[in-house]
Amino acid sequence: MNAAQRVAWLRAEITRHNEAYFVHDAPVIPDADYDALVRELRTLEAEHPEFADANSVSQRVGAPSSNVFAPVRHDEPLQSLDNVFDDAELRAWAQRCANALGLEAESLSFVVEPKIDGLALSITYVNGEMVQAATRGDGIVGEDVTDNVRTIHNVPATLASAPEGRLAVRGEVFLAKEDFDALNAHQRARGEREFANPRNGAAGSLRQKDPAVSASRPLSFLAYQLVDIGDQLAFTWYHESIDQLARWGFLTAGESTREHGVPAMLARSRWFEEHRHDLVYQIDGAVIKVDELALRARLGSTSRAPRWAIARKFPPEERTTRLVAIEVSIGRTGRATPYAVLEPVVIAGSTVALATLHNQDQVAAKDVRPGDLVIVRKAGDVIPEIVAAVAEPNRHRAPPWEFPATCPVCGHPLTRGADESDTYCLNPRCPARVREQLIHFASRGALDIEGLGEQRVGQLLDVGLVHDVADLFSLRVEDLAPLEGFGDLSATGLVRQIAASTSAPLSRLLVALGIRHVGPVAARELARHFGTYEALARASLEELETVEGVGPVIALSVFTYVRLDDTVQRMARLADVGFSMREPEGTARAATLAGRAVVVTGALTGFTRDEAEAAVVARGGTSPGSVSTRTYCVVVGESPGASKVTRARELGVPLVDGTHFEELLRTGTWTTTLA
Ligand code: IVH
Repeated sequence: MNAAQRVAWLRAEITRHNEAYFVHDAPVIPDADYDALVRELRTLEAEHPEFADANSVSQRVGAPSSNVFAPVRHDEPLQSLDNVFDDAELRAWAQRCANALGLEAESLSFVVEPKIDGLALSITYVNGEMVQAATRGDGIVGEDVTDNVRTIHNVPATLASAPEGRLAVRGEVFLAKEDFDALNAHQRARGEREFANPRNGAAGSLRQKDPAVSASRPLSFLAYQLVDIGDQLAFTWYHESIDQLARWGFLTAGESTREHGVPAMLARSRWFEEHRHDLVYQIDGAVIKVDELALRARLGSTSRAPRWAIARKFPPEERTTRLVAIEVSIGRTGRATPYAVLEPVVIAGSTVALATLHNQDQVAAKDVRPGDLVIVRKAGDVIPEIVAAVAEPNRHRAPPWEFPATCPVCGHPLTRGADESDTYCLNPRCPARVREQLIHFASRGALDIEGLGEQRVGQLLDVGLVHDVADLFSLRVEDLAPLEGFGDLSATGLVRQIAASTSAPLSRLLVALGIRHVGPVAARELARHFGTYEALARASLEELETVEGVGPVIALSVFTYVRLDDTVQRMARLADVGFSMREPEGTARAATLAGRAVVVTGALTGFTRDEAEAAVVARGGTSPGSVSTRTYCVVVGESPGASKVTRARELGVPLVDGTHFEELLRTGTWTTTLA
């Protein structure tokens, strides 16, 4: 393709994406890929002035409005923002501002604020009364969404002692992360399509024909611009206008700060990047604005964006890649989890080759198929996931992927309960399950058998020495010593460790057995209530339900588990090798963390995130999602979130190594901290 063809192709492609994004609220590529197309087009247009076209999509903002809502001509156009992607580009922007003003860059003051990933809205007030609200549209003409906006809780209908005449308040309509999760849970429960991200959720919720539907959605509005038509308020600084908006009752960004000079401004923009996951809204960058309004007026605007503001876009957490295959893994409870095998892509600094698809319904809802181009997201310390497939109109797709009817490991039929979203392999002898069970059985959160990790479990299974957890207890030194990587010493050590685990209290054994839905908290309550395994195994469903923290789901799971033939045999064998199977008096858990906030980041061995939080709560503590000055300590597991660790360091909150989590639970304190 030559440059002219490439320009034509880029213009067509960008137009197509604009329409998908702005008109249908259904983007087909991640924002970062879109930005790359626009950048490429602008670069080519700059290099080849002969292709210049005032109507090029590179010169316009957004897409023309659809015809569902009445068109509204904005009093003043809604501009967009130019983007920069790193310190050097941001510094260059500040220098350009300074040069244009004939000032030193160091003398400039900036406001640095979050770039909220929602959709722009302009609300017009006349004599302090809200009269109209409109979306951006193409920047000149937007859509009238007044009735819907009247239902947004933090949009004031009247402004106390507002000046006479017209003014416009502009800002972003968004869904807070928590509200987005709740909305999707609601959509799921009603069998309706989930939204791919908070921005789509907000757009879909605002552009509803029926205001009652908008009203039922938890939309918020954050104000970041006061267009003072007629200039009656005569502010000197932008930040004063924001303070005025806050006095009128608008939500404004609490994280916004005023910074003097370039280094402080750069540092604050990086702060937003580090803390992006700690904010209540989804952000895709920071916005940096010259604070002094007189300087802004002198800087002016280009056709699409002001020169006095810039967006620093963060590295994308979403990327497109090719989906090679969909496979299913079997966990220790037999749960069958579909996952995507991907052509590896680097996202936010790490290579992603696998991504979860959660369950059968998720694959169906997203309709991803082998061979598809897919959007992959990796945000913070969460497991990478597939967001959606990218539409490729001219590509022939594979038929819809079907969830296997049988276990890919053992061939046993897979079962899905009536109101469950998960599918299970119920064969207790399934090699995948046995392997995961053994690993779990020996893990730190369970029986903590030192020297029996993933690798050795694999080895014991491969040579056929072990088929079930109960087999561990008949292992002899002479069986192990000849194996690769073992010697007399380590064989003796392991046999001893295994034998020592038989004195573990019942609560730990219950955790180790890996009964579905039974985590450390429920295990402890059950063990304390019944005292012995025998009593637990005899308990009726009703009695199980009377145990604190045990609801019908856990009760049924335990009731069923203890009656399985396989369990009966296993427990008999464990009793034979002298397993204690009782909860000694006095293991009642003390409130070791009473009133303390323990933040957990990264993966902890033997605990899922929920279990870790429950364990803290069970000891009287709380486990909030973010670090503050009130945080007691931050427990750092595998692949921790960088922002939580950095924040803890900034605030002087102790960092506790994840391998000491149990010590923390037991004693309420720790012996060593991380640097
Ligand atoms: S100021 C004339 N501030 O980002 C300046 N925009 O990519 C207009 N956005 O159109 C925008 N957070 O929809 C501004 N703190 C913020 C923002 C923000 C999000 C959106 C807004 C804008 C788009 C540009």
